[in-house]
Amino acid sequence: MMNGKFISIEGVEGAGKSTQISFIHDYLVEKGKTVVMTREPGGTELSEKIRELLLTPSELAMGVDTELLLMFAARAEHIKQLIAPALARGDWVLCDRFVDATFAYQGGGRGVDQQRIQQLADWTLKDLLPTLTLLFDLPVELGLKRVVERNEAIDRFEQEKVTFFEQIRASYLESALQNPERIKVVDASVSIPEIQQQLTKLLSPLL
Ligand code: TMP
Repeated sequence: MMNGKFISIEGVEGAGKSTQISFIHDYLVEKGKTVVMTREPGGTELSEKIRELLLTPSELAMGVDTELLLMFAARAEHIKQLIAPALARGDWVLCDRFVDATFAYQGGGRGVDQQRIQQLADWTLKDLLPTLTLLFDLPVELGLKRVVERNEAIDRFEQEKVTFFEQIRASYLESALQNPERIKVVDASVSIPEIQQQLTKLLSPLL
């Protein structure tokens, strides 16, 4: 049962999601919506613990299947405890990454068979998909430069090579081509005000 609207935000590293999520949140609140902001992997106490396992660099190697299953374990918990109840209440859910990230990172980046991911998605999501997915797109090199400039600790994914992120970007763009109604590409290489102009235009049909 979904009365509220579900918006997910996607993109390669350094696409400026964090800044823009705050902007979208404030914009929707200004329009009178009750907005729940959350993220994946994470969003509940248990899913945040799974996030730590997934993102903290460690000398313990993590197999690709383990990574994939942990993403879906965190997601199953997140949907059950937070996303589904919020949508049923009629709230809007603004989620920093959702299932498209798994198709892009574990599928495109790690090479997991897309059908295997789809099976897990069918099981975990049932029919739940975002109403709108905003894909922040920019050249990989530019995004990675921003990550370095942020001067924060580098997580397990950010340690990967440029080719890994090129595959992720290609996979995201392919998903956008396959799902043009739901996934809208935002040019994240332009200035912040220009990005925000694109966002208000894309959000307006939902209001
Ligand atoms: P972020 O909060 O900086 O976006 O970090 C989350 C990281 O987790 C990011 O590198 C993408 C990765 N990720 C996946 O690999 N698969 C997924 O399904 C999700 C949600 C995130």
